[in-house]
Amino acid sequence: MKVALASDHGGVHIRKEIRNLLEEMGIEYQDFGCNCESSVDYPDYALPVAQKVANGEFDRGILICGTGIGMSISANKVKGIRCALVHDVFSAKATRQHNDTNMLAMGERVIGPGLALEIAKVWLTTEFEGGRHARRIEKLTNYEEQNL
Ligand code: RB5
Repeated sequence: MKVALASDHGGVHIRKEIRNLLEEMGIEYQDFGCNCESSVDYPDYALPVAQKVANGEFDRGILICGTGIGMSISANKVKGIRCALVHDVFSAKATRQHNDTNMLAMGERVIGPGLALEIAKVWLTTEFEGGRHARRIEKLTNYEEQNL
């Protein structure tokens, strides 16, 4: 699995922790910034990473900002992306099992690094269940094909 990672200025600390986690888990990743402590615009980081996941360059993407909201809204604009904004472990598991999400967004101003790492670990290791859930995702894919 190859993971693309990015944050804005509101998510640099948790992004660093996620980098350590990916290394510990032996998961290949690339960090796309930001390399700054000053203010940047979250779409400038979310959209390129989402495009890299959508085109298959990376299997999954993880995005962090202050709330996770800007990052998740941005990523979900990209065709083929199913990005979940997650702040609890139950949803991290469920969104992999049911939604086959290929991107995860979290907010550093919402949760601490301990919970963020648990969420990322569960999200990275939980498989999609398929079955009736695949039918629902197919409906989203069909909508994208016809409307985007
Ligand atoms: C930046 O101040 C903040 O708006 C951003 O990190 C994020 O929370 C947006 O959704």
